[in-house]
Amino acid sequence: MTIGIGIIGAGIMGADHARILQEGVAGARLAGVQDADPARAERVAALTPGAQVFATAAQLIADPSIDAVLIAAPDEAHAQLTLACIAHGKPVLCEKPLAATLDDCREILKREIAGGKRLVQVGYMRRFDPGYQAMKRGLDGGSFGEALMMHCVHRNAVAPHYTTSDAVLTNSAVHEYDVARYILGEDFAAATVISPRPSRKAINRQPQLIVLETPSGAVVDIECFMDCTYGYDVRAELVCENGTMALAPNPPVAVRLDMRDGFGLNPDWRGRFVEAYRDQMRAWVNTVITGQRSVGSSAWDGYVASATAEACLEARAAGAKVRFDVGKRPDFYA
Ligand SMILES: NC(=O)c1ccc[n+]([C@@H]2O[C@H](COP(=O)([O-])OP(=O)(O)OC[C@H]3O[C@@H](n4cnc5c(N)ncnc54)[C@H](O)[C@@H]3O)[C@@H](O)[C@H]2O)c1
Repeated sequence: MTIGIGIIGAGIMGADHARILQEGVAGARLAGVQDADPARAERVAALTPGAQVFATAAQLIADPSIDAVLIAAPDEAHAQLTLACIAHGKPVLCEKPLAATLDDCREILKREIAGGKRLVQVGYMRRFDPGYQAMKRGLDGGSFGEALMMHCVHRNAVAPHYTTSDAVLTNSAVHEYDVARYILGEDFAAATVISPRPSRKAINRQPQLIVLETPSGAVVDIECFMDCTYGYDVRAELVCENGTMALAPNPPVAVRLDMRDGFGLNPDWRGRFVEAYRDQMRAWVNTVITGQRSVGSSAWDGYVASATAEACLEARAAGAKVRFDVGKRPDFYA
């Protein structure tokens, strides 16, 4: 069986997801593309023989040649498009965050539960990164003891064009909220946020320093700096009772060149997480074909990441620690 995938939004991420499909994912093919800018949709579709360009997202979602939908449009469009996929009973992989507001996240949960079938996966692809997966396996294995702290660094050479100080908390650091919660196996219950002064190279947004606490007392600190200029740099170290685990340099080859000795960096997230994006796609396609559960983030996980982001916004505005409760996971998402 080969399923037809439709991509909505053919910018940086939509084009990268299309490339993954073009390079070959067993059981799937790119069947359609739609973008608010038709020329972008044409350019991405042109690389796959037979891929159709749709004039509107509604037409793509409703078309019988489209079995599943990947949403890579801007955050503000996620909720409406995801709800349309649920209404058509079509599986959807929605780029993170799940929605731009918590009310929209809750509406997606409500409609997915009402439909009675799990259809939504959120593009928190770090759950598929071999480094984070090894960290989770190590912690679950027990020999490291309890997790005490997790230190995270998330730096972009150049911020995406839509990045504001708020978006650092709601669009960038959400990756850390999701993957740290996945590894620790706990939601967060408290947030504190401090904003250093902006870099003079990007005076309109500030880096963010976030501290999250779990109910059992583990602490996660996250530095999120979107204008570091030198390369894309994601780090994580998990500190446990008996030892630590840290992500290895990526790419993993040490180089000596031009009087330097060390590890190179990727220019952006697409190269750093190339395996994660590919494996996320494979797992999602497998889920669509077989109906089996994926380790990918559910709509509930997407809601929790956005609720954590909301608490971080509140904590920054208050200049104080904010306690919060994301609520009990519905049995539907067990
Ligand atoms: N998972 C990740 O690591 C990751 C990385 C970057 C971005 N993202 C997410 O992916 C999404 C897209 O980001 P991007 O960097 O590709 O942005 P982008 O600006 O490069 O691309 C967005 C595209 O969507 C189109 N568009 C705008 N409104 C639309 C609508 N209503 N319907 C259809 N198309 C529409 C635009 O014309 C553009 O081509 C965002 O939600 C972002 O948060 C995820």
